[in-house]
This record gives sequence, C-alpha cells and structure tokens, in this order.
Amino acid sequence: MTAFLVYIAASVDGFIARPDGTLDWLPGAQPDSPPMPAGEDHGYDAFMARVDTVVMGRGTFDTVRDYRPWPYAGKRLIVLSRTLTAAGLPPDLHGQVEVHPGPVDGLAAALNGAQGVYVDGGQTLQAFLRAGLIDELTITRIPVLLGAGRPLFGVLDADVPLRHVRTQSFPSGFVQSTYAPIRPT
Ligand SMILES: NC(=O)c1ccc[n+]([C@@H]2O[C@H](COP(=O)([O-])OP(=O)(O)OC[C@H]3O[C@@H](n4cnc5c(N)ncnc54)[C@H](OP(=O)(O)O)[C@@H]3O)[C@@H](O)[C@H]2O)c1
Repeated sequence: MTAFLVYIAASVDGFIARPDGTLDWLPGAQPDSPPMPAGEDHGYDAFMARVDTVVMGRGTFDTVRDYRPWPYAGKRLIVLSRTLTAAGLPPDLHGQVEVHPGPVDGLAAALNGAQGVYVDGGQTLQAFLRAGLIDELTITRIPVLLGAGRPLFGVLDADVPLRHVRTQSFPSGFVQSTYAPIRPT
C-alpha cells in the first residue's frame, strides 16, 4: 500500500516561501538562512527513511535543482510539471529525475509499488489533497510572520477532516504537528 506523506515547514501565518520563492527566513534552508537550532531533531532523517519516492512541484524543483551533492540520491524523484521536459533537466540528473505532467491521480496510479511518497511543494500538496490522496501531513510551524508568500494551503472542493496524531514543541519555538486526513468511508 502506497502512503502519500507531507513534511513541510511554514511560517505561523501559513507561508512556505516568500513570494519570490526565497527561504532566507527558514533555518537551515539556504546559505543566508539562520542556522538550524542546535541540539534539536525535527525528525527529517526519520521521515526520509520512510520515503522511497519523492514527488515535488516544479517550483520546489527550481529551488533544489542546483543543490550538490544531490540531496535525493537513492530515491526515485518525479517533478510534477506541465512545462518542464526531460531536456530541461540538468544533464547530471538525467536518469535520476523524471517529469510527470499530471493530473495527480494519474501520477499516483503510476506509482503503484511505491511504499512512501514524499509530496513536496505547496501547489503540489494542495492538488494531492484535493484528489483525496494524502495520508499524513507533518507541518513544522516556524515562529515568524512573513505577511506574504507562497501558501501552504489553498482552495478545496470540500472540507478535509483531520485526525490529530501528535504535536511537539521545541525550545527554538518550532511547533510540529502531524495530522492524518480522514477519508470518506
Ligand atoms: N517551507 C518548506 O518546507 C518548503 C517545502 C517545499 C517547497 N518550498 C518552497 O516553496 C516554493 C514552491 O512551492 P509552490 O507552492 O510555489 O510550488 P510547487 O508545488 O513546488 O510547484 C508548482 C508547480 O508544480 C506544477 N504543478 C503543480 N500542481 C500541478 C498539477 N496538478 N498538474 C501539473 N503540474 C502541477 C506546476 O509546474 P509548471 O508551472 O511547470 O506546470 C506548478 O507551477 C519554492 O520556493 C520552494 O523552495 C518550501
């Protein structure tokens, strides 16, 4: 059974990036960001150990495409995009990164056999939520208000009831909550 999992950080006012996509406010995200709080384990490595496949939006791929060493080595990675083609991938990522044009239910069906799928990017996780495909959402709230940016959540066709799994707070002020969407029976 394939599990579709979200692990994402957001400002307290619900943004995952500034309007231009920058992450300078997100500890540890890029060179000009504040450092990760020392001595805190927010569970990223344990989360990634459950993941064999990553699906990310093209917007998120634009952020990570030049990261070396490649952070997703050993995982199947699929970029959701209607505009990107294989020819537009960095040459050294050919064979390591696939592109899928959606829709997400078609992509999900094509992932038959995957165990843990990390769904990353705001628009992308919103599309998976609208399709009723998300099994688990872990959101780490960073204690900052940005006022504007790329939203974590967006328009839904219907309410998505959530089961609260756990919440943990850290000395840094990070507050991490995990929810499981309750699927209609
Ligand atoms: N705070 C965090 O933990 C965190 C995590 C992940 C990402 N980020 C940041 O968030 C920003 C990206 O998030 P985002 O919400 O702007 O975008 P995103 O979901 O990463 O990417 C959006 C793009 O994905 C494609 N896409 C999305 N839904 C689709 C669908 N249903 N069918 C086909 N293609 C679809 C489209 O690409 P095309 O336009 O090419 O068709 C769309 O423009 C980046 O700055 C990234 O660094 C932050």
